[in-house]
Amino acid sequence: MLILGIESSCDETAASVVEDCTQVRSNIIASQAAEHGLYGGVVPELASRRHCENIHAVVTQALAEAGVTVDDLDGIAVTYTPGLIGALLVGVSYAKGMALAAGKPLIPVHHLTGHIAANYIAWPDLAPPYLCLVVSGGHTLLAEVQDRTTFKILGTTRDDAAGECFDKCARVLGYPYPGGVQIDKAAQVGDASKYPLPRPRVAGSELDFSFSGLKTAVINTVHHASQVGDPVDTASMAASLQQTVAAILTEKTELAAKLTGYRTIAVAGGVSANSGLRRAMQAMCDRHGYRLCVPPLALCGDNAAMIACQGSYNFLAGITADMSLNAYATRSIEAERM
Ligand code: KG4
Ligand code: ZN
Repeated sequence: MLILGIESSCDETAASVVEDCTQVRSNIIASQAAEHGLYGGVVPELASRRHCENIHAVVTQALAEAGVTVDDLDGIAVTYTPGLIGALLVGVSYAKGMALAAGKPLIPVHHLTGHIAANYIAWPDLAPPYLCLVVSGGHTLLAEVQDRTTFKILGTTRDDAAGECFDKCARVLGYPYPGGVQIDKAAQVGDASKYPLPRPRVAGSELDFSFSGLKTAVINTVHHASQVGDPVDTASMAASLQQTVAAILTEKTELAAKLTGYRTIAVAGGVSANSGLRRAMQAMCDRHGYRLCVPPLALCGDNAAMIACQGSYNFLAGITADMSLNAYATRSIEAERM
């Protein structure tokens, strides 16, 4: 079975061909990060325009590198939610056009389920049910993966996502966009104990997250330091932030595992690339004898191989769409079955 995946939810235009769910035949990514970096973050209108310019070449290259033609495909999978609406619409419109012209099934994929599926590519023996921590630029959630296309949310963020917290703090600390990876780099040489940071709790909801108080604490410390003329040690602040975010995410995951009884834990989304989080999760899992699955760095960020992989499972489960498929800026992961 050959599935083409198309991803355009944020600032990466990506296409991939995956065979039999998990074998990646091609994985093409045209990143716009350098251009958005000029403005300190993603400019939605610019992202839509670049997707329009790039998508045909990216899909053409993905098919060529896989050594297949459109006729060989069994289906065309596309990210239809969540993300920047204009950006999503480019991928969805392109996929619809291609599916209609070639007479191929159109397969809708929720972006976050794609991130989870990156783990199947890396760990083909990973089988539901298991617990998954999903941490991206816009989302933070703990989910029960009941089967490959059914998800139940156990906890989510009440305000900012973990990635957003990294990115906004990075900006205040003077690091270029995208900030999360810069925090990770700087943290390697910082002293995490120099700036103690708060670990916000969400009253009455022990599996929910809150990162806005942490973000505000970092911003206030940086502003106060500059007002008194004693600039903050940015590497140490980065180390402290990374350690605190990793500890919050790991503690909640540990609690969710205890409450649900799952002994297999996966981590997914752009923030799963964070070295501090990977270390803290591994240490927690080692302590309890849990199995930990985290994608390789190349599959942590946005890519289309994960969309083609999840698209393959959706297709096998009968999840397809007709030409009325639309893009949605937000939609729950529990609604994957449409
Ligand atoms: O999943 P993703 O690539 O895009 C979304 O779906 O949002 O996640 C992007 C997020 C950004 O906030 C980025 O700063 C963060 O992942 N990120 C990291 C690292 N690499 C990417 N955060 C911390 N440490 C990293 N090494
Ligand atoms: Zn993503």
